[in-house]
Amino acid sequence: MSDRVRGFGKASICLHWAVALGIVGMIAFGMVIGAMPSGPGKTAWIQIHKSFGVLVGALALVRLFWRLGQGFPGPAGPTSRTEARAARATHIALLVLTVVMPLSGMLKSVTYARPVEVFGVPVLPQLLAEKHVACNEFASWVHATCGWLLAGLIVVHVCGALKHHLRDRDPTLRRMLWPLPVR
Ligand code: HEM
Ligand code: HEM
Repeated sequence: MSDRVRGFGKASICLHWAVALGIVGMIAFGMVIGAMPSGPGKTAWIQIHKSFGVLVGALALVRLFWRLGQGFPGPAGPTSRTEARAARATHIALLVLTVVMPLSGMLKSVTYARPVEVFGVPVLPQLLAEKHVACNEFASWVHATCGWLLAGLIVVHVCGALKHHLRDRDPTLRRMLWPLPVR
C-alpha cells in the first residue's frame, strides 16, 4: 500500500487519479456555472457544485496528509536538479491548491450568509446574518484565481508527464499507473 523509494503504492495511485478526476471535473463545472445567468437554475447547479466540492475537498485533504506522511519518491529517471526542483514545486502547489479550492469555496458560501450542505446533509450552518461584501469578494477572488492557477498548473503537469513518457522514455508515467515491482 505505502510508497517505496522507486515509486508509488496502490493508495497513492488511487488517490492521485480520484482527486485528479474530481478536480478537473470541478474546474469545468465551476467555469460552466460561473458563465450561467443568475436565476433559480443557476442556484440549483451551485448547490450540486458545493456538494461535490466538499466531497472532492475531503478526498484532497486525505491525499495531502497521506503525501505528508509518505514524502515524495525520488525521480523515476535521470533528471537535472532544476527539473527535479520544478517538478517538486509543481506537485506541492497542486497538493496545496486542491485544498485551497474547497476551503475558499466554503468561505465564499459562509460570507454570502449561506449554509454548506452535501446533498442536504449539513456541513456548516449559516454563520452570518447577512452577506459580508468585502470578505465575500476576497473569497470569490481566491476561488476564481486559484481555479485558473490550478488549471494552468495541471496543463504544465500533464505536459511534463507526457514529456517523460514520450521523449525521455522513463517510467515516470508508468509508475503512476500501476505499482512498479520491487527489485
Ligand atoms: C474541489 C474543489 C472546487 C473547485 C476545483 C471549484 C472550482 C470552481 C470554479 C473554477 C469556479 C468558477 C470561478 C468563479 O466564477 O468563481 C467556481 C465557482 C463557484 N464555486 Fe467552486 N470549486 C470547488 C469547490 C467549491 C466548494 C466546496 C464550494 C462551496 C461550498 C464552492 C462554491 C462555488 C461558488 C458559490 C461558485 C460561484 C458560482 C457563481 O456564482 O458564478 N466551490 N468553483
Ligand atoms: C491526465 C492527467 C494527469 C497525468 C497524466 C498525471 C501524471 C502524473 C504522474 C506521472 C505523476 C508522478 C510524477 C513522479 O513520478 O514524480 C504525478 C504525480 C502527481 N500528480 Fe498528476 N497527473 C495528472 C493529473 C493530475 C491532477 C489533475 C492533479 C491535481 C489536481 C495532479 C497532481 C499530482 C500530484 C500532487 C503528484 C505528486 C504525487 C502525489 O502526491 O500523488 N495530477 N501525476
